[in-house]
Amino acid sequence: MKTPDVVIENPLLAGLRLERTPPPHVLVIFGASGDLTHRKLMPALYRLALQNLLPAGFSVVGFSRRPWDTRQFRERMAEAVQAQVGPLVPAVWQSFAEGLYYLSGQYDEPDVYQELRLFLTRLDGERGTGGNRLFYLATPPSLFPVIVQRLGHAGLVDTRGWVRLVIEKPFGHDLGSAHELNTLVQRVFTEDQIYRIDHYLGKETVQNILVFRFANAIFEPIWNRRYVDHVQITVAEQEGIGHRAGYYEQAGALRDMVQNHLLQLLTLTAMEPPVAFEADDVRNKKLDVLRAIPRYDVKEVDQYVVRGQYGPGWSMGRPVPGYREEPGVAADSTTETYVALKIFVNNWRWQGVPFYLRTGKRLPKRVSEIAVQFRQVPHILFPSEISGTIRPNVLALRIQPDEGISLQFEVKHPGPAVQVRSVTMDFQYGEAFGQRTPDAYERLLLDAMLGDQTLFTRADEVDQAWQVMEPILEAWATLPPPAFPNYTAGTWGPQEADALLARDGRRWRRL
Ligand code: NDP
Ligand code: BG6
Repeated sequence: MKTPDVVIENPLLAGLRLERTPPPHVLVIFGASGDLTHRKLMPALYRLALQNLLPAGFSVVGFSRRPWDTRQFRERMAEAVQAQVGPLVPAVWQSFAEGLYYLSGQYDEPDVYQELRLFLTRLDGERGTGGNRLFYLATPPSLFPVIVQRLGHAGLVDTRGWVRLVIEKPFGHDLGSAHELNTLVQRVFTEDQIYRIDHYLGKETVQNILVFRFANAIFEPIWNRRYVDHVQITVAEQEGIGHRAGYYEQAGALRDMVQNHLLQLLTLTAMEPPVAFEADDVRNKKLDVLRAIPRYDVKEVDQYVVRGQYGPGWSMGRPVPGYREEPGVAADSTTETYVALKIFVNNWRWQGVPFYLRTGKRLPKRVSEIAVQFRQVPHILFPSEISGTIRPNVLALRIQPDEGISLQFEVKHPGPAVQVRSVTMDFQYGEAFGQRTPDAYERLLLDAMLGDQTLFTRADEVDQAWQVMEPILEAWATLPPPAFPNYTAGTWGPQEADALLARDGRRWRRL
């Protein structure tokens, strides 16, 4: 597909791409010695610096227990950024690195927070950061409560500028713990100061779902139960769990991926058009989708949800261990590494249309997409021998890694006989725009700095998403342990997942 010569900016959607520079402020990262800071946050910040999108005086205070000093922190961050971005641009790095500072301490030690407060006040004077603070919780979730409480007690939220809090996922472990965390956080911060991250919302292709749906006139009229047969949402990963057993053993695929990333993809696909592209307008419409999902009956969960765990197999041309053999995983672990589920959205638009969701680790390839499969034609007028070959149209929004959109439709194969073939019309980001797709964290960090909550989840959204998950968690806690492992690493998951669709006369797309 060719790139249009003229790009017309839709004012309703202008917020999606408007380049603005945030006001001067200090970003305080708790857990600054960790994986997320090294692999995602610091490279994203540096890329923002490269694009000149950071304000003058922008400063970062890294905080963790590691006994580093500011010089060591700058050195580590230089290595971390180079590992992700490649060689540094010396002038840009130097100016960026001058704003990096480090404080070490225990997360529950009140005196450290007083030290931090004084340090931030000093930075306001030296770097002109105006009392503006962005606190980022990049620690294991078990530390979120204590850090928030200490920030409150130390008066770190009372400044002459603005104060915001970014919280990483997972937000809670279940409905009860998410409630507790919300209550605790909302004692210290108001909802408009809280930025709950789901990094899928920062992906360009995910943001494009709304543009695709609402900046084009031809798709919305057929985006409903009258024309759509079903929707398949796949987030497949090739990697195993690596060295994350400590976290993953407690989480599993349902909490790690479905409660957040997959449900967010579902809400964007199914939501009604918002009045404007404003944070609360968008989030209200997403919330409506979550509210319209009928809760499973605990006794029926097995009919709608399939779980799996990978056994030993092959991946990327080499033998790989099963989940139970991964470092730090219990030999009899019942943690799921795969989930497939069938969800309905009971409203006027979607009544009766199944949304099939699946995600798993150690699947044959890394691929995420949303496929909208339309209904079969109502009447086939061609000879009976070709009627069985006519396939329904499919619109596939490819989230990653081959970002794009394709529409599959039927055409006549050239020749004297009537023969029908499926072809696709394809749009590829790389080909159309010829530039690097920004990382989700670049977008989300910038939005938090600018005070735009549109791509962050609100308390009631998180709550509703957990409500959808609750019966599944309850059923799994009471059912006998599953016969794991039930799929071989490097395959498309357990057979039961195929059966889930086969019962409805459907099958998963081959990706
Ligand atoms: P890490 O395990 O790397 O932990 C971050 C830092 O927290 C560590 O460097 C450590 O710093 C401190 N820490 C770790 N364990 C403890 C502990 N038991 N007690 C006190 N401090 C501890 O986590 P990640 O960076 O991987 O993840 C941080 C957050 O980001 C998590 O909520 C995670 O779910 C989320 N996330 C991470 C992603 C990733 O790709 N890594 C992707 C999406 C979300 P020190 O010992 O120096 O204090
Ligand atoms: C994280 C999960 O939120 O998302 C990981 O904790 C998962 O388990 C990751 O691998 C996938 O993100 P992405 O952006 O690589 O699709």
